[in-house]
Amino acid sequence: MNALPTDHSFHQFSSEQFYTSVNRSLLDLLSFRPGQIVVDLGCGDGKVTRMLLDKADGFAVVAVDQSADRLKEAEANVASAISRVTFSCGSAENLSSVVPAKVDAVVFCNAIHMISDKARVITEISKVLKQGGLFAFNSAFFEGAIPPSSMNFYRRLMLKAVRMLKRDHHITHHRGVTAATREFLTPQGYADLLVANGFAVRQVDVIETQMPFSSVDAILTFEDFITGALPGVPITTASDVLKQAANESFAELGMPSLPRNWLQVVAEKI
Ligand SMILES: C[S@@+](CC[C@H](N)C(=O)[O-])C[C@H]1O[C@@H](n2cnc3c(N)ncnc32)[C@H](O)[C@@H]1O
Repeated sequence: MNALPTDHSFHQFSSEQFYTSVNRSLLDLLSFRPGQIVVDLGCGDGKVTRMLLDKADGFAVVAVDQSADRLKEAEANVASAISRVTFSCGSAENLSSVVPAKVDAVVFCNAIHMISDKARVITEISKVLKQGGLFAFNSAFFEGAIPPSSMNFYRRLMLKAVRMLKRDHHITHHRGVTAATREFLTPQGYADLLVANGFAVRQVDVIETQMPFSSVDAILTFEDFITGALPGVPITTASDVLKQAANESFAELGMPSLPRNWLQVVAEKI
């Protein structure tokens, strides 16, 4: 098993200052007391786990991910506070068998859009929470994440990328090839789902962010994003053409940054 980030891991994007800021915006809505237990669901490479631990002393974190490789990366990222963290490999869909004790909060950053059966996962989260426990999540993949002011960029990006694939790599990208289905809910859709599954919604914010070019470039090294944009194309080729297309699109449109909306939600188990 390789614990080091691969070229197309999330590591480059998760190291961006911009990414730290959007996650801090969610974590700032939460506070934890000594003795409490917080689950960092879909902890990935542990950047959010680290931020959680840095919020205060005395509470413990259970870091859960379905990928053993991501858990190894997370372990390395929280090394100095390792005594406060337990790592569990398992899926959000079976969270109650992964986290047997009742916990005070579940934080689920930048992953809920990857879940196809969201009602099941919310039910599992409810099972592991104490009454009054908090469920907090954020995502930049929801219905409404792309502001109209950035549509032109995405259109140009894809047109250029498809042209480059054909011209420089003799690959014809078939529109019929689609990425794994992901269901993007509206903010209200998430609120309705939470209420239907025994939560009171405390806060729903749509944060208008500006992604700097370095962050756009970094997300275009991440396998999940690349295969979503150009499914079926070899990953390194897809990343290279998307990066070049993004670079040219930024320059032609004279954009200093890319507007993107980030959803953040806090709900309480009632
Ligand atoms: C984009 S990363 C986000 C990592 C971290 N939460 C953050 O915000 O930086 C998504 C992570 O969720 C994990 N993941 C996706 N679906 C999952 C599931 N059904 N159960 C557990 N983990 C999951 C992936 O393995 C990946 O590490």
